[in-house]
Amino acid sequence: MPDNSVAVFFSNPVRNRSNDVDYVYHQDPDFYYLTGHREPHAVMLIFKEWQTVDGKQYDELVFVQPRDVMAELWTGRRLGTEGVKSTLQIDQVFNNHEFDNFNIDFSQFDKVLFYNFYDDVRNTAVQGDLYDLISWFKEKAGYPSQTAIDIEALAQNLDTQSLEQIMHDLRGIKTPEELILLRKAVKISAIGQVEVMKAMRPGMSEREVQGIHEFVFKKYQAEYEGYPSIVGAGHNGCILHYVDNYKPSIDSEELILMDLGAEYHGYTADVTRTIPIDGKFSKEEKAIYDLVYKSQEAAMQMCKPGVTFDEITLLSKDIINEGLAELGIIETAEDQHLYYPHGLSHHIGLDVHDKGNKDELQPNMVITIEPGIYIPEGSDCDPKWWKIAVRIEDDILITDGGFELLSDLAPRKSEEIEKLMMEKSILDQFILPDLEEE
Ligand code: GLY
Ligand code: MN
Ligand code: MN
Repeated sequence: MPDNSVAVFFSNPVRNRSNDVDYVYHQDPDFYYLTGHREPHAVMLIFKEWQTVDGKQYDELVFVQPRDVMAELWTGRRLGTEGVKSTLQIDQVFNNHEFDNFNIDFSQFDKVLFYNFYDDVRNTAVQGDLYDLISWFKEKAGYPSQTAIDIEALAQNLDTQSLEQIMHDLRGIKTPEELILLRKAVKISAIGQVEVMKAMRPGMSEREVQGIHEFVFKKYQAEYEGYPSIVGAGHNGCILHYVDNYKPSIDSEELILMDLGAEYHGYTADVTRTIPIDGKFSKEEKAIYDLVYKSQEAAMQMCKPGVTFDEITLLSKDIINEGLAELGIIETAEDQHLYYPHGLSHHIGLDVHDKGNKDELQPNMVITIEPGIYIPEGSDCDPKWWKIAVRIEDDILITDGGFELLSDLAPRKSEEIEKLMMEKSILDQFILPDLEEE
């Protein structure tokens, strides 16, 4: 943080699903990273220098929602100020309705750092809710009241830009404690892939396959999925963030692409496997699969501190372009095409696309390596390639000397996948009564 500055972080809004049902609350990852607090209607102030007010010294302040017997009866326990002090080890904690009267002069700071506000913050008419906290902050800090804000016109010391880089620097390098949670999230997700490889049978629905993964996540006490699960058979695998997962009966002739990540104590994995529904890759599927594998393996083996994200991405793209040209799917390796339309790598952590710098790899970064080839029906190539979609996505930790593959519990090689798919699954015995089609 710059000298004589204060950083202000708000909790995430509560978001409405429909009528009187809200989405399951998810804390803002920066707020969670800095506090560990998982409840809404809170604000945190972090000061660069120690502050003295009324004889008390502090370098951070947190305002949280108070305990409330009736509210807790309906929606669960709250920590309250005392709980935050004892559980999260934060000293200066106040009820959120005290923020209004808190004597703080934002004009005395050279910089007031904050993120600009979401426009979906509902006024719940409860004193000290997020709507109030933001309103009071705006008033105290001299933030213009109109909705469309011209950043240039903000008061001189208001800075909505700099936190982004500060949080990229912090969150992109994982601490030992974060690595414990991330390793676990990745292991859980890889085990989900293993169980599905054993359980996969033609005729299953995409949703059923999703359910097996998510059952494994829950079995290991993962609270959520880190992002909506992607389970796409055949052509559906070509839709990069396909989340409908609607196909009622998957076809023995197709591949199924499964991109899922368990979120464990806030940290999310991001692991993709693509497998043949009938347990055996066809000649064309194997050619594409092995090419994606080759690209992934080469990019992964290149990972070590000092190598750049751009370098590993370029290598992965070059290998796929050359391979596609050799297979006759494109004319030359220089052709422009949309068969590999996404990046190779991103950080994972509290977000699936986590904060972190994307220039040079550094020790204790955790990133994905995820090349893919997607050939939708109707593509300008021999129809024998149509509907083949393959992504292989693994999570690696950058170490001092190279990398560690965290998702190695789930096989990646085509032969290993075929072998594992021949194993029996406990789910073969899970037979439910037939219901009439409606
Ligand atoms: N699951 C989203 C991604 O792979 O980036
Ligand atoms: Mn990813
Ligand atoms: Mn993914």
